[in-house]
Amino acid sequence: MVATNTSDSDTTTTQPAPSKGIRFLLIAVVAGLGGLLFGYDTGVVAGVLLFLRDTFHLDATLQGLFVAIALAAAAVGAAFAGALSDAFGRRIVLIATALMFVVGALLAGTAQIVPILFLGRVLVGAAIGVSSMLTPLYLAEISAAHWRGAIVTINQFYITVGIFVSYLVDYALAGVTDGWRWMLDLGALPGLILLVGMFILPESPRWLAGHNFLERARAALRFLRGREDVEDELNQLHRDITDEGRRSAPWSRLLEKNVRKPLIIGVGLAIFQQITGINAVIYFAPTIFQDAGLSSISISILATVGVGAVNVIMTIVAMRLMDSWGRRKLLLWGLWGMLVSLVVIGIGFMVQLQGALAYVIVIMVAAFVAFFAIGLGPVFWLLISEIFPLAIRGRGASIATIANWVSNMVVSGVFLDLLLAIGRGPTFLLYAAMTVLAILFTLWVVPETKRRSLEQIERHLDAPKG
Ligand code: BGC
Repeated sequence: MVATNTSDSDTTTTQPAPSKGIRFLLIAVVAGLGGLLFGYDTGVVAGVLLFLRDTFHLDATLQGLFVAIALAAAAVGAAFAGALSDAFGRRIVLIATALMFVVGALLAGTAQIVPILFLGRVLVGAAIGVSSMLTPLYLAEISAAHWRGAIVTINQFYITVGIFVSYLVDYALAGVTDGWRWMLDLGALPGLILLVGMFILPESPRWLAGHNFLERARAALRFLRGREDVEDELNQLHRDITDEGRRSAPWSRLLEKNVRKPLIIGVGLAIFQQITGINAVIYFAPTIFQDAGLSSISISILATVGVGAVNVIMTIVAMRLMDSWGRRKLLLWGLWGMLVSLVVIGIGFMVQLQGALAYVIVIMVAAFVAFFAIGLGPVFWLLISEIFPLAIRGRGASIATIANWVSNMVVSGVFLDLLLAIGRGPTFLLYAAMTVLAILFTLWVVPETKRRSLEQIERHLDAPKG
């Protein structure tokens, strides 16, 4: 039996556990909203930009800055999220993030002058960065091992839903006066629901146990599992979290041997997730389709909406397979599929298949996104919430997330220039070459983590090879 720290009284100790359905809904809502806002706020920009040119007379540089500033702020947000959430807890940081989403969206959507517009976007960007790292981590920590893969993948599912909704909203509001204000303001609504939801959900029991708040950890587990008797799990948690795990470790821990490997895996996958070209497609699909010969803008946008739907559907498939097939297998299948799709797109553009090209490109772009959605998309976010030792988990995941946002900024920033400099075919073949490297990297270092507790994963990665 675990000794109780009597000093850690908390309101959650007296809160009755809600029914199973309500609990599941709450978790799904939180998982949903962090991801939904991530997807929506990154996806909606394409539509907003068209308006800003006229309303604020932004030149090309300022338009570029408007896109880049949110991605840069996301990297900064991710940088702070880890240390803050290791020190103060996951929940309070998520509450602050929800507030930033709301304030940022309203500021940007009602802005009358450019600096306010940019300030709003910076706040939203920072919130995206924090939530992209913290939502999966919080979910991994509150889930039982056997359904952790599915629960954390809900996050990626909602990212894709957010992107899909943003495509639809852009499409619907494209002809409406001041439509951009609605596009941006709409992000405040899920932010508000996230804020309320996080007040109801408890702190991560792992974080609580790691900080010796055992009574609160017990209450949180009771709430999450919906039963009174959680002693076994609490004992297990308490045993598994080493003494070392209870203290918030110094940054220098990141250089130690047992953290080096998770760091290589996390940062490596972060970079590969972006340099294999996903956001060239997600942010610029209509341009790609027009280049391939789809003459009408509305058909290009419609094809883009179709790609968005494929992204959502295949993420649902990933959710179902994540805990049975396992992370590594899905990742490898996904990468091989991406490779084939990219090679066909690259060659398709180079040989200029007359007439048929547009169809081939649309189908292969959809295939590329589908394979990303079953592998590299969800698996990256899942693994970085699983592989770091507890004492350094927040900061480890932060570093991988920063690498992801910086790579995103670079890849989406240079995509159009790359097309001009080396041409369409070679650009996609370059992404294909990066995918080959990603396959080799996966074969070399990525472990299988399905159905293991976070503490077992920690021990496994720490063990000598073999
Ligand atoms: C990536 C995003 C990408 C999205 C597409 C996420 O996992 O991190 O950069 O836009 O997937 O579905």
